[in-house]
Amino acid sequence: MPEHMTAPMGDGFDQMARDAVYRAMFTRRDVRSHFLPDALDDEVLARLLLAAHHAPSVGFMQPWNFIVIRDAARRGDVRDLFLAAREQELPEIEEERQALYRKLKLEGICESAVNICITCDRQRSQGSPLGRWHNPEMDLYSTVCAVQNFWLAARAEGVGVGWVSIIEPQALKSLLSIPEHVTPVAYLCVGRVSEFASKPDLETHGWGRRLPLPDLIMSETFRGQGEVPLKSTVARLKASDVAPATTCPAGQFVAPAVPQREPPKEASALSFNSLNFDDASASLMSQAGSGTWPAMVLK
Ligand SMILES: Cc1cc2nc3c(=O)[nH]c(=O)nc-3n(C[C@H](O)[C@H](O)[C@H](O)COP(=O)(O)O)c2cc1C
Repeated sequence: MPEHMTAPMGDGFDQMARDAVYRAMFTRRDVRSHFLPDALDDEVLARLLLAAHHAPSVGFMQPWNFIVIRDAARRGDVRDLFLAAREQELPEIEEERQALYRKLKLEGICESAVNICITCDRQRSQGSPLGRWHNPEMDLYSTVCAVQNFWLAARAEGVGVGWVSIIEPQALKSLLSIPEHVTPVAYLCVGRVSEFASKPDLETHGWGRRLPLPDLIMSETFRGQGEVPLKSTVARLKASDVAPATTCPAGQFVAPAVPQREPPKEASALSFNSLNFDDASASLMSQAGSGTWPAMVLK
């Protein structure tokens, strides 16, 4: 790793580096469509895996493994597992949402360049459960941190990642010969994409919307009221303030390497309330003056 990447920076990153980190977070997307047929360079995939491997882990356990799945037939088998699991999940979905559920594209297993299954070896540091004696699930959480590192690094590289969880885990374990003590945590579809959507697909298609962040902040105890100034600050903040469009040192706008896609026009009619973070912030700001906060989450 180049020295400038490992040097201590007690004061934080400079503005451009900070913008880049936030930009990766705010423009990361779960990608199921728009995969290009291009292969993914091993050099790039290696960087993503290295980023994942530098995730935090309980007791420095590093419980992860990365199964790289390229074989088309095997991927077809995983897709069959997805299709079966989707049929099993469907009856559990509210009846009025089942038609929409059916229409949603929820995987890109065969279209993406490569699939990666990130697993958690639950016995990797057996006998030394530092941090896991009371909370044995911390190894799973650590693995999720690796997934998120992978996902953010991929966004920075212009690589799309889609997480497929609609798969029966025992069937996946059997298909990939995963031993009993190892848990498949994330099945990821990974590849170059033509674009990243500007909003989550599920928001575009009216399945859900981003919750107002001030409603999720509590003071001192669960449901604790207070922190009004903080909530007010949060409500004023837009993602675009925190991660402005990239500027080069001379200040000119630099177009993103992979374009951000605006949702299709007809989608806005579909999305209920089409409330995004910024709309939510605006509505909350107008209520902030009265000192009351809507309790959408805590009903
Ligand atoms: C644990 C986990 C499992 C997910 N499983 C699926 C899935 O099976 N299919 C799918 O289309 N998206 C899946 N997603 C993606 C979410 O739908 C997506 O993150 C969410 O809608 C927000 O969109 P964004 O990631 O583009 O911001 C999963 C995400 C997470 C974190």
